[in-house]
Amino acid sequence: MTAAKRHILVTSALPYANGAIHIGHLVEYIQTDIWVRFQKMQGNQCTYVCADDAHGTPIMLRAQSEGITPEALIAATDKEHRADFADFSIGFDNFHSTHSDENKELAQGIYTRLKKAGHIHTKTIEQAYDPEKEMFLPDRFIKGECPKCGAEDQYGDNCEACGSTYSPTDLKNPVSVVSGARPVKKESEHYFFALGDFEAMLKDWVNAKGHVQTEITNKLNEWFESGLQDWDISRDKPYFGFEIPGTKDKYFYVWLDAPVGYMASFKNLCDKSSELNFDDYWAADSQYELYHFIGKDIAYFHTLFWPAMLNGSGYRTPTGVFCHGFLTVDGKKMSKSRGTFIKARTYLEHLNPEYLRYYFAAKLGSGIDDLDLNLDDFQARVNSDLVGKVVNIASRCAGFIKKKFDNQLSANISEPALYKQFTDASDHIAALYDKREFNHAIREIMALADHANQYIDAAQPWVLAKEDGKEQALHDICSMGINLFRALVIFLKPVLPKLTEQSETFLNIAPLSWQDVYTPLTSHKVNKFKPLMTRVDKDKVAAMVEASKENLDVTPTKKPAKDKKTMDNNELIDFEDFAKIDLRIALIKKAEHIEGADKLLRLTLDLGDETRNVFAGIKSAYSPEQLEGKLTVMVANLKPRKMKFGVSEGMVLAAGPGGKDLWIMEPHAGAQPGMKVK
Ligand code: 2FM
Ligand code: ZN
Repeated sequence: MTAAKRHILVTSALPYANGAIHIGHLVEYIQTDIWVRFQKMQGNQCTYVCADDAHGTPIMLRAQSEGITPEALIAATDKEHRADFADFSIGFDNFHSTHSDENKELAQGIYTRLKKAGHIHTKTIEQAYDPEKEMFLPDRFIKGECPKCGAEDQYGDNCEACGSTYSPTDLKNPVSVVSGARPVKKESEHYFFALGDFEAMLKDWVNAKGHVQTEITNKLNEWFESGLQDWDISRDKPYFGFEIPGTKDKYFYVWLDAPVGYMASFKNLCDKSSELNFDDYWAADSQYELYHFIGKDIAYFHTLFWPAMLNGSGYRTPTGVFCHGFLTVDGKKMSKSRGTFIKARTYLEHLNPEYLRYYFAAKLGSGIDDLDLNLDDFQARVNSDLVGKVVNIASRCAGFIKKKFDNQLSANISEPALYKQFTDASDHIAALYDKREFNHAIREIMALADHANQYIDAAQPWVLAKEDGKEQALHDICSMGINLFRALVIFLKPVLPKLTEQSETFLNIAPLSWQDVYTPLTSHKVNKFKPLMTRVDKDKVAAMVEASKENLDVTPTKKPAKDKKTMDNNELIDFEDFAKIDLRIALIKKAEHIEGADKLLRLTLDLGDETRNVFAGIKSAYSPEQLEGKLTVMVANLKPRKMKFGVSEGMVLAAGPGGKDLWIMEPHAGAQPGMKVK
């Protein structure tokens, strides 16, 4: 039974440091975490590392628009991400950042070795450039009309209206999303990694024993057929990232140093630990196992660039890259307007994280198929399996054990044949976890839970409890029930760490290992039973969806005029309602025209300790010069609104019917930026 202890290093993809963790991300973190917890329970040395992916243009621009440094932005995101992961019991052994000393040293080291070995060369290329902002524009930062169907406001790489793909130079009337300026073409020298040098090595790696899933091997073979292109690994300043050694104003493209972040996080952990040695895991001849869990959309980076970079710089290649599919909710892509783009934090404000861990486990296989979170099925399944079957076994038996036997379990395992069914299933369930066939494992576990419940149904302890002379039978049956419950908890421990902890407290035992199933509890005193899990509340699911809804309308909806309406009591609001609106004095630091905008001006508002970007529909009444340097009043706690020209982070107050007749609020002299209006 006791296999040699394995040494395993595991990673999940690094989340970008400019956005919240959402339930789509969680598919991967939960999948990886379950696998890691399972390996740890087996007594393997399994280490799980991750980090924030902190570089790139979107992070640089987001920090600018918030008026903070990229370092401040990534520090704030780091805090949020850590809290979200902890609350979903994602048990990283280390969580680090790609903007770290370790990552800089490793990324620059890898690059230097690749260069020395002749795998890096330069080429001058032409790209879209924002002449106002003085920066090159990634495809996603150019918008315009689709060259095929003419739909407006489409990104530079594909059209959401007709689905066609093209290059940003094909867009009609293109504008820079950053400044609104028309992009021009500009040449610059870029650094390229010669992926083609690694074709033979990559073909061997891809086709050798289970490094990637079959579906991915097929995809990779298509890529091999169409030829491996050089990879552009440099970006010009301004860019937030690491400078390329030996160059001026050239930075590593974010995807060059992102996977190196796996190594960097592990290095950071090794420096804090006496048990782990970096080279044991990363040396070219390492026999230890290395697995990356990722979404199928980033397979190209992880199965071509990454193994090639590692091989070309004298490191080991991954043992396996495990891809998963995308999450849909109720059969559709997650959507902000439908309220199905659910952030981890919003979920946590409404529901128990273990429900989602269980539901994902029950649906996840080892393939790359998409996975659907059907909200009705989610409630039904959690309620029926976890609450109705598993937890129910303990609550059916624990009361009698307490009332009649002072919390002491009997000395017997009264149904050894039934218990043996559970121990016999153990190896099979373990093999399914190891193969990432979690859905299959859960089916097996729930079949055992059904057996346990059938046993209790037939034994009817509640009847025996009322009969004289049946104490021993009652004691044995309820103790048997508790042991069956304990076996189920062992099998579910990788999925439900919190429920397991509560069960361990109730059972009065040390943390359970997989092998513990072979030694049931006899003549053992348990603790007082407390309810372990409540049913999923339908209203809370609905409230979570409601709280996730975002209004993304670009055109403000017209409201009927209310000015002259008499206010009856129905229309009066409580002071608490008014107090919800955070009105602040704001200094208009800057007011600007926006290319392509008929009605809007872009305002940069100073709130004393922060700066906000607000788009105001006041162009018909004001020129920028009339506004700059003036104080006004803004709604400071309005949800940020994504508009055609960027994100608006609040609203200024104005009176009047519109057009030329519009007057913005201005306080009397003495008011200071940031003061609350109340
Ligand atoms: O796609 C993403 O969200 C990337 N931030 C994943 C990076 S994974 C690794 F390579 F760092
Ligand atoms: Zn189109």
